[in-house]
Amino acid sequence: MFRMTGALFLLLSSFAITVPAAKHKLVVGTFSTEFLYTLEYDDVEGSLAQVARSVVPAASSWLTLNHDKTKLYGTDWNAQEPTFVSYDVADSYNIKAEAKIVGGSMCSGSKSIFVNAYQTAPYSVYGNYYYGDARCSTVMAVHENGTLKEIIQEYVYLPGSAVHGTAITPDGEFLISADTKGNLLWTHKIDRATGTLLNVSSIEGPSEGSGPRHVTIHENGNYVYAVLEESSEVAQYSISSDGTLSLLDDPYPLLPSGLDPANYWADEVSLSLENKYLWATNRARDNNLKGYISAFELSPDGPITKQLFLLETTTSGGFANSVATSPFNDSIAALTDNSTGFVEIWDVDLGEIAHLDIPDGQGCCANAVWLD
Ligand SMILES: *[C@@H]1O[C@H](CO)[C@@H](O)[C@H](O)[C@H]1NC(C)=O
Ligand SMILES: *[C@@H]1O[C@H](CO)[C@@H](O)[C@H](O)[C@H]1NC(C)=O
Ligand SMILES: *[C@@H]1O[C@H](CO)[C@@H](O)[C@H](O)[C@H]1NC(C)=O
Ligand SMILES: *[C@@H]1O[C@H](CO)[C@@H](O)[C@H](O)[C@H]1NC(C)=O
Repeated sequence: MFRMTGALFLLLSSFAITVPAAKHKLVVGTFSTEFLYTLEYDDVEGSLAQVARSVVPAASSWLTLNHDKTKLYGTDWNAQEPTFVSYDVADSYNIKAEAKIVGGSMCSGSKSIFVNAYQTAPYSVYGNYYYGDARCSTVMAVHENGTLKEIIQEYVYLPGSAVHGTAITPDGEFLISADTKGNLLWTHKIDRATGTLLNVSSIEGPSEGSGPRHVTIHENGNYVYAVLEESSEVAQYSISSDGTLSLLDDPYPLLPSGLDPANYWADEVSLSLENKYLWATNRARDNNLKGYISAFELSPDGPITKQLFLLETTTSGGFANSVATSPFNDSIAALTDNSTGFVEIWDVDLGEIAHLDIPDGQGCCANAVWLD
């Protein structure tokens, strides 16, 4: 009898862990206020809630997770010198800063703006700069446990360059960098043993001053999608086996026709879990105007087949209107705003499905990363 109960208990508990998780955590960074917000999205209830606020010694306007989601790397918006911050997320309700690294020794007057992590050993971290003379970037090594350790390479692009975003090909061969101020996309080869970079090539944006800002790469490694900050568009390039890029077709608009791109600064591109959709966002430079959110459908090979929608967001987006696709549902993404301070969950078919205000004096909300 006792044995039967034990077996029944085991059966029930193994059944319980196969039921899909209803709750998914996100971490959201800020501009200026020194907090990291932990949110929970319940995909059964369709609700979004703040579950923790960690007090940290930096305002991370950009956050990225390492390969096993145990560490977060962030920028430091308030720092006088361009700085990268390493956080431990073992306890997602109490995220702790573990290290700060100051880079940018080959350029001056800039801020840390973006950070990206290599997904296989040696798990190197790539940092970029913006504002001032930001023609340089930095490669960092990590300790065995993932904490940022030291700078292993500083390198430059061209006078006038400023890289605002990067993406790594899924095979770990290349780093592609969006040089907004230089209107270029760069390919660097990654040394697999050390994580350091070698120049391969660069290609101009699709039009003069188009301003590639962020990039994301298809899981098959054959296409990179770039959001063009200045022209308010999305461009797609094919990636050849030697890492060089070729523009596929005319860019796609992130503004309804008739609106002047000079009043906007397009923000982000993000591929859905199974790479069926590409999300893209735009921000207005003036808080009396609205930002935009769009999604494109991709063919199974990668190229864009159609623009599914281009909708106004409820605010300008402030400095954000960043979009981050979820790791659990091909249809779901998170949108962040710092004009009033909120995070929203969007569904590609249903539009906005959850909204959470986080009013902290325009500090929140920069970008979001999904923990699960
Ligand atoms: C990770 O390793 C570094 C360097 O040894 C150490 O300073 C830090 O405390 C470690 N972090 C954790 C969470 O163990
Ligand atoms: C890469 O190319 C740029 C532009 O020609 C040059 O300024 C830079 O020094 C090169 N970097 C490396 C690491 O070779
Ligand atoms: C994804 O979420 C939507 C609700 O936003 C739901 O209708 C759909 O069934 C979910 N898909 C999967 C595969 O769970
Ligand atoms: C958003 O953050 C930026 C950067 O800190 C700040 O300058 C701005 O006032 C904030 N709010 C809006 C509406 O842009």
